[in-house]
Amino acid sequence: MPQPRQAIRRLDYTAPAYLIDCVDLTFELDDTATRVASRLVIQRNAETKADTPLVLHGESLSLASIKLDGVPLAADAFTHADDTLTIPAMPDTAILEIVTLINPQANTELSGLYQSSGNFITQCEAEGFRRISFYLDRPDVMAKFTTTIIADKAKYPVLLSNGNRVGEGTLDKNRHWVKWVDPFKKPAYLFALVAGRFVSLAGNHTTRSGRQVAIEIYVEPGNVDRCHHALAAVQKAMAWDEQRFGLEYDLDTYMIVATSDFNMGAMENKGLNVFNSKYVLAKPETATDADFDGIDSVVAHEYFHNWTGNRVTCRDWFQLSLKEGLTVYRDQEFSSDLGSRAVQRIQNVRGLREYQFAEDAGPQAHPVRPDEYQEINNFYTWTVYEKGSEVVRMYATLLGIDGFRRGMDLYFKRHDGQAVTCDDFRTAMVDANNADLAQFARWYSQAGTPVLDVEGVYDDAAQTYTLTVTQSCPATPGQDVKLPFHIPLALGLLDRRGQELPLQLADEAEAIGNSRVFELRQPVETFRFVNVPCHPVPSLLRDFSAPVKLVYPYSDDDLIFLMAHDNDAFARWEAANQYATQLLLARYRAGETDTPAPEKFVAAMAAVLANPQLDPALAALMLTLPSEAALFEALSDVDPQKLCAVRQGLKEALARSLRAQLLATYQKLNDGAPYRYDGAAVAARALKNVCLDYLGELDEPLTAELLASQYRHADNMTDRLAALKVLAQRDDGEPFVDDFGKVWQDDALVMDKWFALQASCSRPGALSTVQALMNHHAFSLKNPNKVRALIGAFCQQNLAHFHALDGYGYAFAADRIIELDKLNPQIAARLASCFNRWTRLEPQRRALMRAELERISREPGLSGDTFEIASKALSAGT
Ligand code: TRP
Ligand code: ZN
Repeated sequence: MPQPRQAIRRLDYTAPAYLIDCVDLTFELDDTATRVASRLVIQRNAETKADTPLVLHGESLSLASIKLDGVPLAADAFTHADDTLTIPAMPDTAILEIVTLINPQANTELSGLYQSSGNFITQCEAEGFRRISFYLDRPDVMAKFTTTIIADKAKYPVLLSNGNRVGEGTLDKNRHWVKWVDPFKKPAYLFALVAGRFVSLAGNHTTRSGRQVAIEIYVEPGNVDRCHHALAAVQKAMAWDEQRFGLEYDLDTYMIVATSDFNMGAMENKGLNVFNSKYVLAKPETATDADFDGIDSVVAHEYFHNWTGNRVTCRDWFQLSLKEGLTVYRDQEFSSDLGSRAVQRIQNVRGLREYQFAEDAGPQAHPVRPDEYQEINNFYTWTVYEKGSEVVRMYATLLGIDGFRRGMDLYFKRHDGQAVTCDDFRTAMVDANNADLAQFARWYSQAGTPVLDVEGVYDDAAQTYTLTVTQSCPATPGQDVKLPFHIPLALGLLDRRGQELPLQLADEAEAIGNSRVFELRQPVETFRFVNVPCHPVPSLLRDFSAPVKLVYPYSDDDLIFLMAHDNDAFARWEAANQYATQLLLARYRAGETDTPAPEKFVAAMAAVLANPQLDPALAALMLTLPSEAALFEALSDVDPQKLCAVRQGLKEALARSLRAQLLATYQKLNDGAPYRYDGAAVAARALKNVCLDYLGELDEPLTAELLASQYRHADNMTDRLAALKVLAQRDDGEPFVDDFGKVWQDDALVMDKWFALQASCSRPGALSTVQALMNHHAFSLKNPNKVRALIGAFCQQNLAHFHALDGYGYAFAADRIIELDKLNPQIAARLASCFNRWTRLEPQRRALMRAELERISREPGLSGDTFEIASKALSAGT
């Protein structure tokens, strides 16, 4: 029976006993026995008392030699056990030279030094450096790194590390070497080494102050034609950060390397970012509009880390959101400025609600700044990243964009070169603005999604409108009682023509604006507006001003009115989304799968399709029904198959009622113009393909023709894949799915789309298809992208089949988790979170899921990563 790993607690933090000033590393690269020589200049931390032992981290390392100040250490002068190397008698300052041997070929965890397509890659965040060499592998130990790489010249012509290339040369046995020096102090998690056969696309950027930066994107041979979008994204991100935050790049070269074997999206190693190839490689024939957007935001995200994460880093891993929440906020802002702000916001809020709200309501709920963890890799979560970004966004909402900038400037002025905490960030915001954000700190310490219950009362005689807002927050594991949050609530009041009314509180001399941000601090807050000439419709939580659930008893007519009239684009979408959510939940409760759609709703959707003023991208989002995952969260004792059938039923009903308008819009937008990637073209394609998706529900020759024609004649992947996704759900789709699989069989990233599309297909037989595809030559359990595409898509997106009542979906997931755990615990643990919501299911499935969770948690030799997820999930049932 696996045992829980010892939990690490935030409040146990102590400063490092020793500091490392300089690290000099020499790698002799070898598939199975890479030799790593490390020379550490160490000094005792002034706060540490003399004779404190030095304890270095080290995992899966074989120690070849160790010298202290030039003298080999006697066997009894150190101990090497339990992933640590301890030297009890340590001088105040010393030079420690350690040689270790590592086996990159055997590294299937993709943490530390590993191989991918015959190249060497490192991944050190969070605790991967200790799998390369013995070290104080914690983010508050910051050192200057020098790295020499020695390797076979033919097999590894390109040798990269952080900073600047300062020397290179040739050696015997056809080997060569390159030496790199990084002038900036950094924690070990930002170290990187890359070696192999790469080709590169180069570009440059001139900073605002006139410095020249060389940008280099390294990819496997044959892929240079897919790097142009990523290169342009770097250039846009560099210009944006200068303009918006006054932040310039600080090295002469900025390098990105793409690899197909990567646990996450990308990694911000100083000067040498490593990317999952999914977020670098794109051309219109192989990548969708969503892929291009994803590249923009991930490239920007990693680039922005250079300041928010690297120049100012985290004191300890509990502070992870200090860099991640802030950097996500920055990449979201970048994308908003690049495209449509409203569309960007809607997409982010959708993700937050589907995944973060679910996390916050489940067994893995934790604060943005967690209090304890067993395995830090399990805390790269929706909460730390996305809720963390919402917390940062709230500073900007409360302090204003200029106030936020003042806070950022002070943060960098104070903390450049330091490893700091979320409190340091908040304090900079407070001090730069003279603000009171003491209560705001609860956003970092309390888990759970706050609920705002809002009531509005209009007094005709007094011409007043009173809003009463009551906040609460559900209990989460380990946190029974919550204190009130400091919440920015943006709102407007609309009259019956849809005009915004001037907002004047009872104690104000005159009206101040039409849309305002009010601050909630008390459990109950009342806002009495005066001079309100008619009973208004409130437009609440505009732009989603806080990560909360807002409850207001809107009537259907209110929502349809807001959908059409609110001049806040986000609020218009939100009204459509809420209407559809209420409707779907009511149909679920009544078990309605094939009644017609209500006329009012059909008319409102028709108006969306017919509105020439509406951004087509916004129209596409308004027409899209709430996801199954979002609906799931609003229910208990869920029968997922019934939920899917109800959503599907409404979609079909809408398709029938809106057939003429959908067809007209489709035909108008399907203009045969050659592919272009720009805001207008992307928006038009989005709306066109939403129409096609609805039309695909109709069983008539015309739609079959449209689909086949779009699939065959599309000059880009966005349109081809959109048609194929619809076809895959139809009786006539199989030949198209087969065709796609053959045409693209040698393109790994496109095959991921093909795997995911079949794994998430709701037609009968999905599980056997997935099982068969595991034997496809393009599939590998060792490759995280493949696992996510095939197994992840089945377990997370295919509600109907994953939750099959025979339990085979659950058993399949558990088998794969156990299998994967032996190869890559990080990926296995992520997959295991597909069982997190088991207590929300109806009893029969609940029992089946619980049995699988128990089976996983009993597995001998299970990793701490997966055990933490499975055991926390199980504890939700007790
Ligand atoms: N810091 C990375 C980012 O958000 C995340 C990351 C990349 C990561 N690879 C990882 C986290 C491996 C944990 C493990 O940009
Ligand atoms: Zn990040």
